[in-house]
Amino acid sequence: MGRLRLGLTPAIAVVALAATNFMPFARTAWAADTVKIGLIVPMTGGQASTGKQLDNAVKLYIQQHGDVVAGKKIEIILKDDAANPENTKRLAQELIVNEKVDIIAGFGITPAALAAAPLATQAKIPEIVMLAGTSIITERSPYIVRTSFTLAQSSTIIGDWAAKAGIKKVATLTSDYAPGNDALKFFKAHFTAAGGEIVEEVKVPLANPDFAPFLQRMKDSRPDAMFVFVPGGQGGNFMKQFSERGLDRSGIRVIGPGDVMDDDLLNGMGDAALGTVTAHMYSAAHPSQANKDFVNAYKKAFNSRPGFVAVGGYDGIHLIYDALKKTGGKADGDTLVDAMKGMSWESPRGPISIDPETRDIVQNIYIRKVEKLDGELYNVEFETFDAVKDPGKTRN
Ligand code: PHB
Repeated sequence: MGRLRLGLTPAIAVVALAATNFMPFARTAWAADTVKIGLIVPMTGGQASTGKQLDNAVKLYIQQHGDVVAGKKIEIILKDDAANPENTKRLAQELIVNEKVDIIAGFGITPAALAAAPLATQAKIPEIVMLAGTSIITERSPYIVRTSFTLAQSSTIIGDWAAKAGIKKVATLTSDYAPGNDALKFFKAHFTAAGGEIVEEVKVPLANPDFAPFLQRMKDSRPDAMFVFVPGGQGGNFMKQFSERGLDRSGIRVIGPGDVMDDDLLNGMGDAALGTVTAHMYSAAHPSQANKDFVNAYKKAFNSRPGFVAVGGYDGIHLIYDALKKTGGKADGDTLVDAMKGMSWESPRGPISIDPETRDIVQNIYIRKVEKLDGELYNVEFETFDAVKDPGKTRN
């Protein structure tokens, strides 16, 4: 995997070269002027579209804000773990030991974020989780800070909403790993407490899921709605099979956390997606100037629409920049993580902050419905829950 070198100005390069020649500890002096970030994401395999969004978002932020912050040069070292936690662990180790990175970031799936957690603790460096969404993650290391979301944040809210909207019977289809189990657990608890009934539960494999056999079971159970969680990147394939099986014409609605309706893929899903109601932290149609600017800049740079995955990456690198500003460029893990606690800013998704107790993100959750605007499909927000903390934390 390529290494993104952000380039040296000739003057700095000359000074650096001179220092290497004449000073015995030049490597240390040089390292202190650079903050190295190991960005570990899936750039190949089934989750590759999410790695691409994270990489794009980080590149865009650096293009917009420059590659020097608080006197430190930012160097990104991109590594592809293909969403395999064994790779994540090996790559994180190499980055820490050989490259001496100051921060590890990215993490497209929960098992990857968990695999790196003990290494972040051991090395005492921040682990910035930009996508993975299982509640437990931030409890696995005091050096983990998350800028994405938790499945509990959105699934509790869509569970309450579904019951209020008169949906009585729900069949669930969730990806069979930790975030899918969180989504199911929190949805079920809220939906059934409000009088709803679960009529069918199916779990689909994370890798290369074939939804067709499960969709027939869903149809046969005759629910009012299907609650669906698949990780970002898989929604397009899900909706294709959903309409091929005629479920879009069966009167069964799709509801869930917003991962299945990723803005990145939504336009390709066609009219079968219309009317889908999900709860999530980001919509490309979020009506703020900050979001319009973000969407336009991303489209211009990469010729595609950003989704929630890109926003997690954009905010993750923003968090690192702002923490470095706050510490005056001091980049040891304890100082950086302390600086990140309680930080707040306006993201393209709306106002967000880092909970100082849990190091997890606090953000608005929006309920949205897929509609067509100017010939394109969007998740149009119609209800907002302000400053939602992760309901999956025992401490909250
Ligand atoms: C996860 O593996 O935690 C995960 C990945 C992608 C999502 C949500 C959760 O969209």
